[in-house]
Amino acid sequence: MTVEVVVTEDRRSQLLALQETWPHVYTLIDEERALGFDADEDRDDFGAAREGGRGESYVAAQQARPEARITGIRALMDLVGGSAGGDRPVVLDLLGGDGLLHRVCLRPDMPDMTIVTCDASSFMVASAWAAGVPAVRQRAQRQVFRSGSVDGVLLAYGSHHVPEPERQAVADEAWRVLRPGGRFVLHDFAEGSPMATWFQEVVDKESETGHSYAHFTADWMRECLVRSGFRDVTTTWVFDPIVATGTSEQGAQAALGQYLVQMYGLDKLVRAHGEEGASMVAFELACRTFRWEPSTAFDGMQNHVRECVVERLGLSKWQGVLPRFALVAVGEKPGRSGTM
Ligand SMILES: C[S@@+](CC[C@H](N)C(=O)[O-])C[C@H]1O[C@@H](n2cnc3c(N)ncnc32)[C@H](O)[C@@H]1O
Repeated sequence: MTVEVVVTEDRRSQLLALQETWPHVYTLIDEERALGFDADEDRDDFGAAREGGRGESYVAAQQARPEARITGIRALMDLVGGSAGGDRPVVLDLLGGDGLLHRVCLRPDMPDMTIVTCDASSFMVASAWAAGVPAVRQRAQRQVFRSGSVDGVLLAYGSHHVPEPERQAVADEAWRVLRPGGRFVLHDFAEGSPMATWFQEVVDKESETGHSYAHFTADWMRECLVRSGFRDVTTTWVFDPIVATGTSEQGAQAALGQYLVQMYGLDKLVRAHGEEGASMVAFELACRTFRWEPSTAFDGMQNHVRECVVERLGLSKWQGVLPRFALVAVGEKPGRSGTM
């Protein structure tokens, strides 16, 4: 979908724009809840740099390499869409940022779904609209959608940013807005994994925002979903790499490094080493951090690389692969076919 409406950060004008551009999604929104959304009071790591956030560089990474994370995104879409009914299921992307998942899912080889970008950050919601993706401002803990209105809900790529005491409320809200038979998919990079180490030892030290958040465990995910009332709750590991290409081996290393610097806002590395130097340092730090030891093995891991590789694809095409494995819980809201 191409949207030409210029939208401000004002909530009412965003709702009007949504009504004009995406009327069938607008009808799913409870306007009173939407207008009652609390003003910003939390810190916003994904806000503008002038307000202490790392929003601009995060968005720059996604817009420069929208397909860098397509493998994991595809797996999540398959999981969330599994039981969705109707012609074109509506799936809420609760931590939608600037609409990356929406854009990736427009590809013809992706499952046919309407991905609705939602985010708490006014900067991210405005960035999504500016990039042509309609977006809804809400907190995952208190959604603006009507009860029983959507086919799928996804909480991914940042679940650890939800404050620990509020994580159950997110699962409860997912339950509320889902129709019976709809699925909730909860994704995070598990506590104790190389990705959690990356956040703790690299992002926390080298970004202006820091990054000190508790990541989910499988038990914690399961507990949240079961408490909300989801049935058939499973947890699984999903291969969710970052992939970047270049015209030479060093070019692919630099591309991967630059993506990491921008996505995680590693500004202190840039100040210390310059832009190019920071990319290479980030690549080296990633190679050191992303080693999935045999002790952390699980079914399916053996089919994937377990440490950073840069491989030749063609005469002047190289690809860098940073292996990430994410923990994903899936639960279904009971009630379909008289099971409620
Ligand atoms: C790492 S970004 C992910 C963006 C996008 N899904 C992607 O993969 O590029 C995490 C996003 O979650 C948003 N966020 C964090 N806590 C939130 C909450 N409680 N409710 C809604 N959005 C939240 C942030 O504003 C940010 O845009």
